[in-house]
Amino acid sequence: MHEDVSRIIFSEEDIRNRVRELGQEITKDYAELVEKNDLVVVCVLRGAVMFMTDLVREIDLPLEMDFMAASSYGNSTKSSGVVNIQKDLSSEITGKHVIIAEDILDSGLTLSKLMEVLSSRNPASISVCALLRKNRPDQVDVNCRYVGFECPDEFIVGYGLDYAEVYRNLGYIGVLKPSVYAK
Ligand code: IMP
Ligand code: MG
Repeated sequence: MHEDVSRIIFSEEDIRNRVRELGQEITKDYAELVEKNDLVVVCVLRGAVMFMTDLVREIDLPLEMDFMAASSYGNSTKSSGVVNIQKDLSSEITGKHVIIAEDILDSGLTLSKLMEVLSSRNPASISVCALLRKNRPDQVDVNCRYVGFECPDEFIVGYGLDYAEVYRNLGYIGVLKPSVYAK
């Protein structure tokens, strides 16, 4: 385990198993819906990149991958509350079935903003698949159809999640020692 991590919450195996289940669930839910190549899985960069690339390999349907970048964090552990779209999708989503793959639902601000932006482009449908959802009483209400794991309200890293751009390449998800960001 990395020395800056106090404990592992989800191991590589936990993640692999849960991502497989999510992919199977999505395959079942969208099998009848998807006719042509009209399913798009949107990765919210950069945190969701590991999750999205693993997830699409567990979805047994033709699909398109697209990428979007949003940020509200800067280099702190608290959301700034202002969500910036830093990179938009490469393709049109009008008439398509869109699944947004996100790493974590924390304050909920990022996802509610993304839902608003993407819904306004008239997709056939739109849903959210978040690997993690933090247990926070003040979370903005986001309609999250698929959730991998509920997690405690602590600052976590790994499997795409960073602190100041570090730790994304850990294979597991763990709690970052507060001493690391208290400095
Ligand atoms: P929200 O807008 O507050 O829901 O924040 C969503 C984004 O904040 C996520 O996509 C993550 O990039 C980041 N984030 C939230 N909580 C954590 C955490 O515990 N560790 C690392 N990144 C986090
Ligand atoms: Mg993110």
